[in-house]
Amino acid sequence: MPGDGIGKEVIPAALRVLEKVLGAEKWDVTHLPHGADHTLKTGETISDADMQSLRGYDAVMVGALGDPRIPDNHHAKDILLGMRFKLDLYVNFRPSYALTDALVPLKGRDKNDVRLVVFRENTEGLYTGIGGTFKQGGPDEIAIEQEINTRKGVERILREAFAYAKKHGLKKLVMADKANAMPHGHGLWRRVFAEIAAQHEDIEAKALYVDNLVFQLVRDPGQFQVIVSNNLFGDIITDLTAALQGGLGLAASANYHPGGPAMFEPVHGSAPDIAGKGLANPIGAVSSLALLLDHLGDAPRALRVTEAVRRVVEAGILPRDLGGTASTEDVTQALLSHL
Ligand code: NAD
Ligand code: IPM
Ligand code: MN
Repeated sequence: MPGDGIGKEVIPAALRVLEKVLGAEKWDVTHLPHGADHTLKTGETISDADMQSLRGYDAVMVGALGDPRIPDNHHAKDILLGMRFKLDLYVNFRPSYALTDALVPLKGRDKNDVRLVVFRENTEGLYTGIGGTFKQGGPDEIAIEQEINTRKGVERILREAFAYAKKHGLKKLVMADKANAMPHGHGLWRRVFAEIAAQHEDIEAKALYVDNLVFQLVRDPGQFQVIVSNNLFGDIITDLTAALQGGLGLAASANYHPGGPAMFEPVHGSAPDIAGKGLANPIGAVSSLALLLDHLGDAPRALRVTEAVRRVVEAGILPRDLGGTASTEDVTQALLSHL
């Protein structure tokens, strides 16, 4: 599902990389039209049947959703948040790693300092759309956006983050919240966090207020290994960690329900400012493909894709967002020839 804007440029690039890395093996790939064009043409964002049919696939790859012709973004809400909510993809995994030292924008830091992973809760928080407006447009207007934190939702994302740390031998895990200002919802996060941390004595578990966390992330990112947070804070934190690894054009993500459906997408959006010009960096999408291969149990191919990306960047074939002049096509061609 390429979706909108540069999604339509980076997803075809990732597909060509997939075909190359598969070699003689053939996968059954279905192209889905959902996005702004489809919504404007048909009035439909995504039907329930189409949404549920996604469960029949091993994985879904999405480009981005967002188009200036649909200012209220309702199609993106139905399609992107729809997938996350209706397929219950409660884990949003967003790893950060820099391909080269030169990409790290912080003075005196190298790629070892920005290697960390973020687990973002993906099905509740401030994203559910629960709320409303009253006296809209008038001077007494009220607008309410409710934050939903359920015991089940908080516990399952925290458990997933701890399980990842344990599996990968990582010893430091930080939860970011705002329990000082939001004692009810984020107090729940603190209590559940303390419970689960007590079951993982070998992991140094710390709760930080999110404002302190973002300060620390820029000042000294090397102190972090695993970060877990709610939906909104996780969104914001991962644009910051995208910057730490070199830029939004590079960052990859996985949305999944352990043992169930999975969806992969670059962290960036549809970038209307550069869409249609052949300037988009395809690496975020291609690295999301690597996450997809890994998720489906094909670690060797995932590694081949990641290594190709690293070599292309090391060779200095850089798109404009990384300070180079290479087009989407140039970067894709270079990836294909390295593979
Ligand atoms: P954006 O990520 O689209 O763009 C932010 C900046 O980064 C822009 O200057 C853009 O040109 C640049 N950029 C992003 N990806 C790039 C790439 N691959 N190569 C080169 N440069 C890149 O964020 P935005 O401008 O805030 O949002 C644009 C639209 O995308 C909005 O409608 C938003 O809601 C949507 N959006 C969708 C997703 C998603 O579908 N997952 C994610 C973020 C934003
Ligand atoms: C992301 C995006 C989305 C989000 C938007 C488009 C709703 O920013 O995937 O990071 O906030 O989750
Ligand atoms: Mn985002």
